[in-house]
Amino acid sequence: MWTSSRVLIFPLQVHISLAGDKHMRITWITNDGSSPSIVEYGTSPGKYSAISQGESTKYSYLLYSSGKIHHTVIGPLQENTTYFYRCGGGGLEFQLKTPPSKFPVTFAVAGDLGQTGWTKSTLDHIDQCKYDVHLLPGDLSYADCFQYRWDSFGQLVQPLASSRPWMVTQGNHEKERILFLEDGFVSYNSRWKMPFAESGSTSNLYYSFDVAGVHIIMLGSYAPYDEHSDQYSWLKADLLKVDRKKTPWLVVLFHVPWYNSNRAHQGEGDDMMASMEPLLYAAGADLVFTGHVHAYERTKRVYNGKSDPCGAVHITIGDGGNREGLAHRYKQPPPEWSIFREASFGHGELKMVNTTHAFWSWHRNDDDESVRSDQVWITSLIGSGCNTRGSHEMRRILMTS
Ligand SMILES: *[C@@H]1O[C@H](CO)[C@@H](O)[C@H](O)[C@H]1NC(C)=O
Ligand SMILES: *[C@@H]1O[C@H](CO)[C@@H](O)[C@H](O)[C@H]1NC(C)=O
Ligand SMILES: [Fe+2]
Repeated sequence: MWTSSRVLIFPLQVHISLAGDKHMRITWITNDGSSPSIVEYGTSPGKYSAISQGESTKYSYLLYSSGKIHHTVIGPLQENTTYFYRCGGGGLEFQLKTPPSKFPVTFAVAGDLGQTGWTKSTLDHIDQCKYDVHLLPGDLSYADCFQYRWDSFGQLVQPLASSRPWMVTQGNHEKERILFLEDGFVSYNSRWKMPFAESGSTSNLYYSFDVAGVHIIMLGSYAPYDEHSDQYSWLKADLLKVDRKKTPWLVVLFHVPWYNSNRAHQGEGDDMMASMEPLLYAAGADLVFTGHVHAYERTKRVYNGKSDPCGAVHITIGDGGNREGLAHRYKQPPPEWSIFREASFGHGELKMVNTTHAFWSWHRNDDDESVRSDQVWITSLIGSGCNTRGSHEMRRILMTS
């Protein structure tokens, strides 16, 4: 017989995220306020050789009170290894795999997820691919102030998000600012805590982390980004710390695209682009992923509105499956920098093969199958001739501006 207290400590909405070198943060929710924030874990099922104590939080939003939200960091963990874990001292056992510490490493990418049948199809296809980390450039649950939708989203993504780290940044649908409530991100920040403190940031809305040879920067389209902002100073400092010998790839994510030839959301990224694109260019960013526009688009390497061999490849991938549907209308003719664009739901896979080569593919949801629809080898800026100039100029621009 299950006693009611047994049922109450059942961990809900389990998801994991990278939390500094060799560490992982486990997040879950319980309805029972006395349930402890402990995670027991080990490398064989049912045998827990280590235990970590974490912290918990909760929040209220109008008439809604959240459950107890637990955040517990475990580690140090071995690379590329399966761990079995249990939350709160009971309930189901989960398993996770840590990313490798060297190439190859694979990322799944899908933004603007929501929680529709289309979302389910995208998640099923991601589940079928072999990947190490999920990257999400904003717009998670589409809760839009209805807090119970955060809970149903947490349950929907748990099978994937409890087994591979989900690294997310905020979109407009995370912003739930209403009268009298100053912090528009209270639900998002309470539930989706990311390693901002671990990366020297003071805000959960922007942070960075390393996976194998890739430095990934998550920026906030909805945090101040002008030259006097904290985000701008943090980005400069973070770019100066990047060691391209250790992390030859530099990848950036945020929500609102800078290069977008869809008619939806034209111009919304212009101010952030004017402020931050020179920094990313000076640092030699290889790839930029965004969402917001519910379609897929890939560009040439671009800078300052034109193709440029030393700029970044921009990929808009806001096609995860949300309830607002697809953005079908495009500007005609396409700009010279736009290589591939299509309004279909789907996901992307980015496999960093080695220091210089990555294979990108976009998979359209087509009934039960995921169909690989766009694919390209991307070579890094390392050793391209841009790099030397980039690092030289980077120091000049980053130090003086
Ligand atoms: C990770 O582990 C798998 C299976 O154990 C192995 O095939 C793969 O080569 C490893 N990857 C790295 C980068 O070490
Ligand atoms: C990197 O991978 C690419 C594609 O597989 C290959 O052509 C290239 O030789 C590799 N480079 C190194 C240094 O191994
Ligand atoms: Fe959006």
